[in-house]
Amino acid sequence: MILVTAANGNQGKRLLPKLRASGVPVRACVRSEASAHALRKAGVADVIIGDIMEPAVLARAMRGAQKVYHVGPTAHPQERAMGMAVIDAARAEGVEHFVFSSVLHSITTDLVQHEIKRDVEEHLLSSGLAFTILQPSNYMLPLKLQPVFKEGIFRLSWSLDRLQSLVDLGDVTDVAAMVLANSDAHVYATYELVGTGRFTAHHLSRMISNVLDRPIRVEEIDADTYLDAWFGDADRSQLKHQACVLRAISARYSSHDFLGNPNVLTWLLGRKPTSFEEFVRAEYTTFMSRN
Ligand SMILES: NC(=O)c1ccc[n+]([C@@H]2O[C@H](COP(=O)([O-])OP(=O)(O)OC[C@H]3O[C@@H](n4cnc5c(N)ncnc54)[C@H](OP(=O)(O)O)[C@@H]3O)[C@@H](O)[C@H]2O)c1
Repeated sequence: MILVTAANGNQGKRLLPKLRASGVPVRACVRSEASAHALRKAGVADVIIGDIMEPAVLARAMRGAQKVYHVGPTAHPQERAMGMAVIDAARAEGVEHFVFSSVLHSITTDLVQHEIKRDVEEHLLSSGLAFTILQPSNYMLPLKLQPVFKEGIFRLSWSLDRLQSLVDLGDVTDVAAMVLANSDAHVYATYELVGTGRFTAHHLSRMISNVLDRPIRVEEIDADTYLDAWFGDADRSQLKHQACVLRAISARYSSHDFLGNPNVLTWLLGRKPTSFEEFVRAEYTTFMSRN
């Protein structure tokens, strides 16, 4: 059985159908009843609901797992402790293969969520578990296209002139499924997962504009505006970690490009990674069919 954490997240909801299609029993761990309901509706029978930071929830999730795919939920205030607890529980359970979804250039101390993942990677390396580490670049996130489709504005919370590498979540989860299905071939590997191309916000908006066949405006927003859009009226005193993560992202991506190389992903997929234009085209087709 494969345990998938953050199971109704960006990666999890794309990965679970791929694992199920390969016939392997899967267990999903989520926090809310609503996510559990969505996953059950999608055919995932074994769902553990609860805060994985609670030892009893983690113990239930881990019981009987042979493999684990761990994703730290976005900007979770206890991401480091969570990663380490999941690794320790996997070791105690005798898990055969632990796959950790980390991040490209996890050595970047300036980025809060990278430094955390670097520590989790080190804990995994020292755990004695057979492991694989995936290091995806910035995701091509469907959520970021919604304001573009609806308002014609592409917003980023860092300099519009800095270059970045992106990766498609379908490609990331294709690799995750492959690695979990062929553990022996991939243990002790660390793979950078990066799509083709290097883009500023201006390049990205031009590509979106070509697909939509209408002009798109690009707008730089600050980290706190992004936080407002993400969390609405929620109590700011409860969001200190999230604010810290977003401010660090704005600062680092405004002072440095964030770039990687697509060779490893191309080799793993045995095909060209999904391009940004292909991603936008697919998302726009879905958007138009629903609206
Ligand atoms: N965004 C990027 O461009 C990018 C790029 C590279 C790496 N990353 C890294 O990727 C990770 C995020 O991946 P993702 O976007 O696939 O995940 P995600 O969408 O943030 O994951 C959300 C899922 O985690 C579950 N969850 C949250 N807190 C939980 C808890 N305490 N106990 C149990 N489940 C919990 C949620 O459950 P409910 O739905 O029930 O609330 C939901 O199913 C982050 O570590 C991020 O740094 C992101």
